[in-house]
Amino acid sequence: MIQSIEQVNQSKNLIEGLRSLVKEDWVSMNKEIQDQLHSDIGLINSISHYIINSGGKRLRPLIVLLAYRACGKNNNQESIKAAAMIEFIHTATLLHDDVVDDSATRRGTITAHKNFGNESTILVGDFLYSRAFQIMVEIGHMRIMEIMSEATNTIAEGEVMQLINCGNPDTTKEQYLEVIYRKTAKLFASAATIGGVLAGQSNKIEDSLNIYGQELGMAYQLIDDALDYSSSYEMMGKEMGDDLSEGKPTLPLIYALERANPEMQMTIRDAITKKDASHRNEIIDCIEQTGSLALTESKARESSIKAIEALKQLPNNQYKEALISLAEFTVNRPF
Ligand code: IPE
Ligand code: IPE
Ligand code: MG
Ligand code: MG
Repeated sequence: MIQSIEQVNQSKNLIEGLRSLVKEDWVSMNKEIQDQLHSDIGLINSISHYIINSGGKRLRPLIVLLAYRACGKNNNQESIKAAAMIEFIHTATLLHDDVVDDSATRRGTITAHKNFGNESTILVGDFLYSRAFQIMVEIGHMRIMEIMSEATNTIAEGEVMQLINCGNPDTTKEQYLEVIYRKTAKLFASAATIGGVLAGQSNKIEDSLNIYGQELGMAYQLIDDALDYSSSYEMMGKEMGDDLSEGKPTLPLIYALERANPEMQMTIRDAITKKDASHRNEIIDCIEQTGSLALTESKARESSIKAIEALKQLPNNQYKEALISLAEFTVNRPF
């Protein structure tokens, strides 16, 4: 999965091109994010600005905006607010996730909890979560409340399920897939569906967008889990290798466990059980030699294809093309 500078530049240009398709919305959405960050409590402002302004690809809000326009609608305030709201939820989950995973870096800088401490980071995560729900009240659309209350509940369940699986080398592929569906795919699915809901689409179109987001989200997390064994901080803006240190049984490790020789199986089982990454290099060699990264990538590709297929229900336009490109980027991405 080693990527050339050229591939990185191509990916950056692609994302920039997709954003420029919704340029006006994009500018308004970024302004909405800044406006909505405000609190009278200085510490909340410091931490929330720290994480929000350290970057992030903002893929989920991009999906809201593109899905809305793909349904033939023009820019409106609700879709912009909904896009900002989705990024708040995503950012809140990252603040919490980095505490749980004890990750040291995020978005090219030190994580909020390493900078400000666990307590305040968790509380500011709650602030962003609840601000997102205030934005939904401003939008005033019951269906969006319904989608997001279910999504946030499911994400929380996913993170807890993952916590239970950590340290368990007998975690099955099905259990892993259930976790990533809940913790990641559900939010992507909500982003795409909300675009359709705000555009006043039929249930059929809403369902297609839901499947698109869900499959894209599955692919996104599968690739994230492959990159954790094959990429670098320079490329991803976050430390790689955290999954092994956490004893997190992700798909590359599950495949390697199935395919390794008995001695290597013991090494991997031990690493997961003891959350001990001291045999990292051997384990990475095994993951590569057993084709486990390639298998994970091909599973991601299957999901990406399903995502693109789901878009067949939508009218043909440049926004739908952009959603297709995003699904392709998801599996080819270097960051
Ligand atoms: C990180 O999401 C969490 C995962 C689901 C893998 P992103 O890769 O979208 O993170 P940012 O927002 O761009 O930093
Ligand atoms: C994604 O999982 C986290 C959430 C969806 C909250 P990871 O733990 O793999 O994400 P990174 O690698 O920390 O970004
Ligand atoms: Mg994490
Ligand atoms: Mg990860």
